[in-house]
Amino acid sequence: MKITVVGAGAVGASCAEYIALKNFASEVVLLDIKENFAEGKAMDLMQTSSLNNFDTKIIGSTNDYSKTSNSDVAVVTSGIPRKPGMTREELIVINAGIVKTVSENIIKYSPNVILIMVSNPMDTMTYLTQKVTGLPKNRIIGMGGALDSARFKYRLSEALECPASDVDGMVIGGHSDKGMLPLTRLATRNSVRVSNFLSDESLNKISEDTKVGGATLTSMLGTSAWYAPGAAVSSLVHAIACDQHKMFPCSALLEGEYGLTDLCIGVPVIVGKNGIEKIVEIDLADEEKEKLIESALGVKATNNLLNDI
Ligand code: LAC
Repeated sequence: MKITVVGAGAVGASCAEYIALKNFASEVVLLDIKENFAEGKAMDLMQTSSLNNFDTKIIGSTNDYSKTSNSDVAVVTSGIPRKPGMTREELIVINAGIVKTVSENIIKYSPNVILIMVSNPMDTMTYLTQKVTGLPKNRIIGMGGALDSARFKYRLSEALECPASDVDGMVIGGHSDKGMLPLTRLATRNSVRVSNFLSDESLNKISEDTKVGGATLTSMLGTSAWYAPGAAVSSLVHAIACDQHKMFPCSALLEGEYGLTDLCIGVPVIVGKNGIEKIVEIDLADEEKEKLIESALGVKATNNLLNDI
């Protein structure tokens, strides 16, 4: 399995590192526009291989897409990250052009690739890539919900004072501070609804903290986070590589599912060797349905900004 990661910044490099640590890929190509940057990151990572016991070969490339030829999966992290106080939506003007060029270059050398979109605003970048490349919808996955759900589980485990491995939960909707929809009603600890252990007030706080999970870290770090985003992407790549049929909430093109059409937004999907094997429609409560529709309106408003660029 050959994987390309475009963008050797913090998210791209963490992603390459986690993929290598899991040792399921034969090759990772890290690509960046900055001269020698990806080559340096690749060399640094390769110098951990004897220490961390992985056999994945990581190579770097300065914008030479021919090195990415015949990739099975490509992860797009290119573009600028947000600074403290910025929303993900504010990045659209710069990132839309970058993401369009990157996706076109990837497809040119890897026509059968499955694309995982990370660049923000993630749902809109996933939608844009769909429009630009015309790839079948199973081959374009937006990673936001996988990350947001990991942050949700962390917040739940903190409140429950238990390991995150005891906790299950999902965040659907748009990957934005306002649009995320943590499904607190359905979250469980060892199959028991978390509402058995936590008050409504506590659950509301967990939900709000989850929604601003990225913004909180951006204000603490001065730039957007990378470990959890990198780990979330590597889990998706792993699910594709090993045909796991694992369920993640991811941004997918909807064509009537959840009553929504013509947008990419976070919903539960099954991830396997074909990318999105299936979109899973779960029964939402009326209030959750309303919030998802509201979130979709927000994503569509951001998508509409593409017309002005
Ligand atoms: C975050 C960015 C990757 O949520 O969107 O940290």
